[in-house]
Amino acid sequence: MDYKSYIVDLIKVEGIDKEDLIKDIIPCKLEEMGDLALPCFKFSKILRKSPVMIAEDFAKNIKPDNYISKILAVNGYLNFTINKSTLAKEVLDEINTLKEDYGKSKIGEGKTICIDYSSVNIAKPFHMGHLSTTVIGGALYRIYKHLGYNPIGINHLGDFGTQFGKLITAYKMWGNKEEIENGGVNSLQKLYVKFNNEAEKDEALNDEARKWFKRIEDKEEEAIEIFNWFKEITLNEVKKIYDILDIHFDSYNGESFYNDKMQPILDELERKNMLVESEGAKVVNLDKYDMPPCLLVKKDGATLYATRDIAAAFYRKNTYDFYKSLYVVAYQQNLHFKQFFKVIELMGYDWAKDLEHVAFGMVSINGEAMSTRQGKVVYLMDVIDRCVEKSKAIIQEKNPNLENLEDTAKKIGVGAVVFSALFNNRIKDIDFNYEKVLTFDGETGPYVQYTYARCKSVLAKAEIDGVIDFSNITAIEGSLINKLNSFKQMLIDCINKNEPSMLTRLIVDIAKTFNKFYYEQRIITEDKNIQNFRLYLTKATSIVIKTGLKMLGISTPEKM
Ligand code: ARG
Repeated sequence: MDYKSYIVDLIKVEGIDKEDLIKDIIPCKLEEMGDLALPCFKFSKILRKSPVMIAEDFAKNIKPDNYISKILAVNGYLNFTINKSTLAKEVLDEINTLKEDYGKSKIGEGKTICIDYSSVNIAKPFHMGHLSTTVIGGALYRIYKHLGYNPIGINHLGDFGTQFGKLITAYKMWGNKEEIENGGVNSLQKLYVKFNNEAEKDEALNDEARKWFKRIEDKEEEAIEIFNWFKEITLNEVKKIYDILDIHFDSYNGESFYNDKMQPILDELERKNMLVESEGAKVVNLDKYDMPPCLLVKKDGATLYATRDIAAAFYRKNTYDFYKSLYVVAYQQNLHFKQFFKVIELMGYDWAKDLEHVAFGMVSINGEAMSTRQGKVVYLMDVIDRCVEKSKAIIQEKNPNLENLEDTAKKIGVGAVVFSALFNNRIKDIDFNYEKVLTFDGETGPYVQYTYARCKSVLAKAEIDGVIDFSNITAIEGSLINKLNSFKQMLIDCINKNEPSMLTRLIVDIAKTFNKFYYEQRIITEDKNIQNFRLYLTKATSIVIKTGLKMLGISTPEKM
């Protein structure tokens, strides 16, 4: 049932477009004032009356029915109260029938969305700074998929640059195969630091590094072999984290993949007279757009991060013919994206408008900013491990007899970390605090998971059997039903803004409302028909929480 369209059909005014009116309808600010409000200002000109009088006339003349139980005029707005019994049956039937398919849609049919996320750097640690890109990207991927889009997850690996020449040099001089096999990225990092220290004393090391880098570029066997091995070491570590976070990629084409795909683009820029020489380098001038020039070829002929990103954008357009191409990358890179998007637009490609930088803020931990340079990196895996340990301690205290302690602690610990990056508007900086993310009451992962487990424990007490009485819906039940009903639209709002936190907040809101309902009313009660209704509502709530959390990448233990 489309209530907005139903409401507009009740209003008969000549000369106003139905679709426009539907767009005007907003939710009422206070639930007791109604559910949907239609502003009457538009009718004023046509009906030659004040909006206040028009609203009052309509309120008098439209009769309540099966769908609308009350119509109220408030300051030029018409407030409609939806008949909660009709709505309850409709919404709860739909959720309980469709289950985890609730909210699925076809709006995305035939549309491909490229999502560049996580995009880790080879031989560098996977630290807390990578949490947001990974989980925001993962959530967007699942939400797009639920809405029928064809998402393509791309891990644009940072696998190109002179640092790899340095790393190979260091490995050749001081490295040891076994040590690296065992020590992983950490030992690669140590080698890299050693190189930089030694190179300060001995300039010849840098020449050696340049040679190795050239050999990688020329695809010489030994260089490629070592380099691929570094890649493998890094990806093995990273993939463990992706497994834990339930993150998937359709492509691992990193920067080096575009080595041979940049020249044709540079040629095209040249042909279009867009490349200019500046101190020996080649740039695209962006003065007119209040941006510094986009540097594409260095004096020594080397290409840059932006050059590879432009080549990658073309490759993605040609390969996937995307409807949109998203880059989930920290806001520090705002300028980079604005610049290269502009270059593609100036080349005359109108699909430049379909490229979007999905930016997010920085993470600090317990108030302390991370800094790679000062060695203040916090490994994501360490944070996860610590949260899992802490959850274990909390469970042992709260529910010492719980079976599946390990598995549950893992779900809670991981959920808490993921939730922390998906609750606030993505552009906000996050301060990660171990105590805060793990509290069971508050706006946290464990709180929502706990609410789900509470639903399940209620449902284990009785079966739904016989008549479901939808006739007497209380205010809190009505409010819960409204929120469950808004899930579908919320998914669409989420992708329109590429903002998964909107879904997180709705799920928290649903959990809070359910808990209020749980405390205010007895679910297991004498009147079996009412009990059936409340169980039916509880079941629907559990389905929506589980489905929503799953999309966010948070799993739901059945018991906590
Ligand atoms: N590897 C880069 C970094 O860590 C992020 C890459 C993002 N994706 C892109 N297409 N530029 O900063």
